[in-house]
Amino acid sequence: MGGEQSKPKLDTGVPQTARIWNYLLGGKDNFAVDREVGDQIITNLPHLAENARLSRAYLARAVRYLAGEAGVRQFLDIGTGLPTADNTHEVAQSVAPEARIVYVDNDPLVLAHARALLVGTPEGATDYIDADLRDPDRILREASRTLDLSQPVALILMGILGHVESDEEAKSIIDTIMDRLPSGSYLAMYDGSDTSEAVTEAVRIWNISANPKYHLRSPERIAGLFQGLDLVEPGVVSVTRWRPDGGSDALPEEIDQYCAVGHKP
Ligand SMILES: C[S@@+](CC[C@H](N)C(=O)[O-])C[C@H]1O[C@@H](n2cnc3c(N)ncnc32)[C@H](O)[C@@H]1O
Repeated sequence: MGGEQSKPKLDTGVPQTARIWNYLLGGKDNFAVDREVGDQIITNLPHLAENARLSRAYLARAVRYLAGEAGVRQFLDIGTGLPTADNTHEVAQSVAPEARIVYVDNDPLVLAHARALLVGTPEGATDYIDADLRDPDRILREASRTLDLSQPVALILMGILGHVESDEEAKSIIDTIMDRLPSGSYLAMYDGSDTSEAVTEAVRIWNISANPKYHLRSPERIAGLFQGLDLVEPGVVSVTRWRPDGGSDALPEEIDQYCAVGHKP
């Protein structure tokens, strides 16, 4: 377990993004301040709880694709969130029990739960690093205890890049990590998109009090984060449209959460 430095304290008086997300997903690891912001947001965007669930469903489909069709055996999941159903290691190891997963988050409550809950298969491995996305060198250094960085790794950035406002900074973090990974590695992400007025208003409310603040991107800006990578079909789409399960010919409704999976050539 890494990260003995720079530990933020558990603050139950300020709403925290990981705990609001947990509340929206129907979890119990949240406090009154988090539920208050969650309820205000749901008033403005009643679908947000459903959007959270649909985003997690995309996470599971993307990880299943990566461990299955793409054959990836190593995962670096930054912005883990509080443990919920279908955590990355559960999905990956259900396909490939030997899969190795390193989780990274900087929320103290995620850290507390990760220690207790993120236990994988005996054949595989899971580790947890208490670190900030903005410190990719440290993340890579500590991740290399568990992952062989000379072999392909899937970098998982689900619902976290919206916390980095500038595209330049977000792209530089991605590039620092992807440059250290070999050809055959992947980037999988989703984030909130500025595709409706309702979501823009919901994020405005979120940002009045929640920590850290969140910034929506357009699908075009999200696509820009994948420059240098080959987009896996169907490219940058609403999370509901990324390789949906189910036999119906009708495409699912689009939501204000966009995603993509990119392959390092
Ligand atoms: C919206 S949640 C998403 C959780 C999960 N990936 C999912 O898709 O359900 C965002 C997570 O990113 C974490 N996070 C935000 N900013 C971070 C940073 N700078 N470094 C590390 N983790 C961060 C939060 O603590 C939170 O757990």
